Amino acid sequence: MKALFTLAFCTVVSGKALLDRNLAYRSPFHDHPQFAHDTNEIHARHVQHSRRQVQDAAGFDDDHYPTFYGGDFSNSPFVWNGGLNFTHSVASGDPFDTSVLLWTRAVPASVADGSSPVPDQSVPVCVSWKIFRSASLSGRPIDTGEAFTSYDVDFTVKVEATGLQPDTKYWYLFADCTNPSSTSPTGVTRTLSDPDTPAHEVNRGKNLTLAVFSCSQYQQGYFNAYGFAAHNTTADVFIHLGDYIYESLGNGAKIGRHVLGRELATIFDYRQRLNQYRTDESLLFAHQMAPWITVWVSERSRAMHTVNHVVNSAALQDDHEVADNSWKAGTADSNDTTIGCSFSPSGACFTDRKLAAVRAYHEWMPIRQVDADDKLRIWRNFQIGKLLDLTMLDTRQYDRDLTDVYYNTECTQLMYCLCIFLDDEENWFMESLTQSKARGAVWRVVGQQIVFTQLNESGAFDLDAWDGYRGNRQRVLDHLKQGKIDNTIIVSGDSHANWASDLAHPNDTTTYNAATGEGGLGVEFAGTAVTSGSPYGTGILPEAANNISRVLVDVNYDLQWSELSYRGFFTLTINPSTLTATYYAMNNISFPNLDGFASAVFVVENGANKITRPVAGGKVNAGVLKSSVVDQAT
Ligand SMILES: *[C@@H]1O[C@H](CO)[C@@H](O)[C@H](O)[C@H]1NC(C)=O
Ligand SMILES: *[C@@H]1O[C@H](CO)[C@@H](O)[C@H](O)[C@H]1NC(C)=O
Ligand SMILES: *[C@@H]1O[C@H](CO)[C@@H](O)[C@H](O)[C@H]1NC(C)=O
Ligand SMILES: *[C@@H]1O[C@H](CO)[C@@H](O)[C@H](O)[C@H]1NC(C)=O
Ligand SMILES: *[C@@H]1O[C@H](CO)[C@@H](O)[C@H](O)[C@H]1NC(C)=O
Ligand SMILES: *[C@@H]1O[C@H](CO)[C@@H](O)[C@H](O)[C@H]1NC(C)=O
Ligand SMILES: *[C@@H]1O[C@H](CO)[C@@H](O)[C@H](O)[C@H]1NC(C)=O
Ligand SMILES: *[C@@H]1O[C@H](CO)[C@@H](O)[C@H](O)[C@H]1NC(C)=O
Repeated sequence: MKALFTLAFCTVVSGKALLDRNLAYRSPFHDHPQFAHDTNEIHARHVQHSRRQVQDAAGFDDDHYPTFYGGDFSNSPFVWNGGLNFTHSVASGDPFDTSVLLWTRAVPASVADGSSPVPDQSVPVCVSWKIFRSASLSGRPIDTGEAFTSYDVDFTVKVEATGLQPDTKYWYLFADCTNPSSTSPTGVTRTLSDPDTPAHEVNRGKNLTLAVFSCSQYQQGYFNAYGFAAHNTTADVFIHLGDYIYESLGNGAKIGRHVLGRELATIFDYRQRLNQYRTDESLLFAHQMAPWITVWVSERSRAMHTVNHVVNSAALQDDHEVADNSWKAGTADSNDTTIGCSFSPSGACFTDRKLAAVRAYHEWMPIRQVDADDKLRIWRNFQIGKLLDLTMLDTRQYDRDLTDVYYNTECTQLMYCLCIFLDDEENWFMESLTQSKARGAVWRVVGQQIVFTQLNESGAFDLDAWDGYRGNRQRVLDHLKQGKIDNTIIVSGDSHANWASDLAHPNDTTTYNAATGEGGLGVEFAGTAVTSGSPYGTGILPEAANNISRVLVDVNYDLQWSELSYRGFFTLTINPSTLTATYYAMNNISFPNLDGFASAVFVVENGANKITRPVAGGKVNAGVLKSSVVDQAT
């Protein structure tokens, strides 16, 4: 009767409603059964199963059937009551002012410990959740509920806690509906300010700190950067700019980071990879201790480019059709046992992989579905009081792989065309910047994957970065200048190295002065990888790296700091008068540890649109400042 006890206060809800409360079933989108899960169908499967069981049961006793479907037993499925394992702790994400997403994974114990095969797939798992104002979980929960999960969504659970207070810290946990004493670890999360909160009152008047990460490849090292940020900084929100997982296998065995499975293709592969990444203790801890805001995994798309180009271009005349095809192909045929691309009716393997990747990502990440009608969209905006707008762009995945198919050859030859994102997202981005200024937000922090500033690396430009999309970059800079939009801070990942630059039109040495920063249009802070290797050689030591950095800061007019050796992350500490970027370097990622140091600190003053001089106070603990090279030369 335990189950009855827990659920005694619930209003009567249907099994379908309990499925719908788990947002993982909307992965990637709900209300589109052809794209996501049809919860009506899953519910019908459960009901059918329970009917079958009832007919077959001898000496039937309904005590162990939860009755929260009301008295109508004919309509109530079994609920798994053989014990749950919360295999991957908890996570939270996409905080708003009064709500936040909570995540866990609840696997039937017999599956998790490998003692038996998957239980009957028609049996839903029921978890309850509660969120509190106090670390001791005392007092009335602020919000609470139950939801179903099942093998259909890899036993992931994603619910939205609502009715919360802005700018407030919360503690939450999940439990087995049929055995409330079986709980997940307790997670810590928070809400953000109401959009209208005056800038100086945001975060209750204290600095707001964002920790920014990118490029975490499991086989290349331990995710110490996440642990360091969670243990050793006061980060309020964790931002991930992409390459959260990698599809490749690599050779991590020598440091105990052997990657399971194979190059990712099916839903099974993506789930297994996310599952394995989320065994890293630093990553688990970081997810448990703070809400995350992420943009799309991107390494995949690079590998897909190759695949893209072999896809018959005649089949790709219309992007809607491509997208529709991709979803249909994936949904109609993807299943946990399918191997490879042979199941794809179109033969366009990448579209099936994309569906699998997006679906698994939305199952495993505490990310909101932005717009059910907008196929792959995850770009979105967080208005954090009047202090800042955090705009997350999806410069890699959203439409871009499609655009590559149409325009890529032309782009790389002409190097001047629209193709980093389609009009849709570009217009939305420009409008976000304008709106942000109009609503009086002090700072505009733009989180996106790829390096924005022109970088001449020994004569080569990374055409996978904004250097390959110069028309877009020019329009963004023009927009900032013409619209007199101040205080734009672009934060970037992808490059596996650290860069700090003022924003200026490339090669503009007349209206912008690199020595003083005068004429700057904002600032870019680009961060190194959590683990992925330096572009100048995995494991390159600081001395050799600095020799290269010296050339780079000399050759590149806008570049103020280059650091190529360390893996790590950076934080942005934000208040109405200053935005401070602190870069952290991890000393050794070949074993789990929290050994790191601050390598450089940059300040941006409200209204200045440049890094404060002397840059980094004239002194860094790693990498090379332009000022040091220029000083030496003069
Ligand atoms: C729970 O899951 C974890 C991770 O898969 C596993 O290591 C552990 O053995 C499981 N525990 C039980 C009791 O099944
Ligand atoms: C806010 O951050 C700035 C920059 O890091 C720092 O100088 C200041 O002391 C911080 N203020 C508080 C109250 O922590
Ligand atoms: C980070 O925090 C951990 C745990 O509190 C501590 O043991 C470690 O020494 C700290 N690391 C540094 C570099 O301060
Ligand atoms: C899953 O895919 C395999 C391989 O294509 C196929 O044989 C099997 O029928 C599919 N199963 C379901 C339930 O669709
Ligand atoms: C790029 O940098 C190299 C030095 O590494 C320099 O020789 C070359 O002229 C630069 N190219 C451009 C286009 O600025
Ligand atoms: C900047 O100047 C270099 C060297 O002349 C050139 O290669 C590059 O294309 C210029 N960049 C832009 C955006 O015009
Ligand atoms: C770095 O440059 C200095 C000066 O040119 C040179 O003496 C040194 O050997 C270089 N170090 C490495 C590791 O390349
Ligand atoms: C990192 O730690 C490993 C394991 O202790 C050690 O073998 C290696 O030398 C260390 N690397 C560096 C750069 O200190």
